[in-house]
Amino acid sequence: MIVVTGVTGRLGRVVVEELLTRVPAGGLAAVARTPEKAADLADRGVDVRRGDYEDRASLDAAFAGADVVLLVSSPDVTPGARARQHGTAIDAAKAAGVGRIVYTSAINADTGPSFLADHATTEALLRDSGLVSTVLRNTFYSDLFVNPGTVAAAVDTGEIVYADGGRSLNTATIRDLGLAAAVVLTGRGHEGARYELRGSLWTYDELAAAISAESGKPVVHREIPLSEAGDGAFVAQLVSGGFFSEPSEDLEKLLGRPATGIRELVRAALA
Ligand SMILES: NC(=O)c1ccc[n+]([C@@H]2O[C@H](COP(=O)([O-])OP(=O)(O)OC[C@H]3O[C@@H](n4cnc5c(N)ncnc54)[C@H](OP(=O)(O)O)[C@@H]3O)[C@@H](O)[C@H]2O)c1
Repeated sequence: MIVVTGVTGRLGRVVVEELLTRVPAGGLAAVARTPEKAADLADRGVDVRRGDYEDRASLDAAFAGADVVLLVSSPDVTPGARARQHGTAIDAAKAAGVGRIVYTSAINADTGPSFLADHATTEALLRDSGLVSTVLRNTFYSDLFVNPGTVAAAVDTGEIVYADGGRSLNTATIRDLGLAAAVVLTGRGHEGARYELRGSLWTYDELAAAISAESGKPVVHREIPLSEAGDGAFVAQLVSGGFFSEPSEDLEKLLGRPATGIRELVRAALA
């Protein structure tokens, strides 16, 4: 039995949809904080179970009978909250006798800015638990950078304004990261592995060129200083500081194909 948490979220939904193409619905349990939000999965024969990271008893029941659990990291960025919630989930998985736990961590979890500390703490909790585990160190989603809104704005104005410092980005699509998780959940040989899941490197100059080519309208990248980045300054500071500049082949190896590139994302955004 494969048990997946966070199924009402973007990543968890992709994972469940991909798993449904790989294993019978009866071999899956989908854990939702609000099961009514996953009613369509129940209609398709998936065992939808209530599970709240703040409620240990709900997780004990949600993880019962699991051979493998995908613990999708909590979106609660209150300092310390995520690590506490994940600790509760790891304890419940251990008590339930789960065979393996797969955790969605983040790139640079142990060296990056403080908001990633919860991921490093969770990885340590997993190591200390004695459970067999697989860590998926997910990069940030390409979808946050390249989507119908950002592409349409670039076409309208003829420019993309970003404080990237000329650095590359290794972002990956939610879909590719979800497919990789499904591969790890259903395949063999991932016990104890830690994967650095990153897409192929791209730059804002290349994004402008891709939008120009796909839209037929000239678009240029205009670099601005961080001080002018406004609401986007936090992420831009990561980009210009090189947070996303290290490549890894782990994602394409798990997918068995290259990760989805920005040109495909731009095409999809314009469609
Ligand atoms: N790599 C990236 O760029 C990136 C970006 C954003 C977030 N993340 C991290 O990756 C995770 C998955 O990403 P996502 O895009 O799928 O996030 P998402 O769409 O925000 O989904 C988060 C999921 O966590 C569930 N959840 C929230 N609090 C919970 C609790 N107390 N107990 C049980 N489930 C709870 C949500 O359920 P409800 O529907 O009940 O709220 C939802 O199913 C996020 O939670 C976050 O830790 C990564």
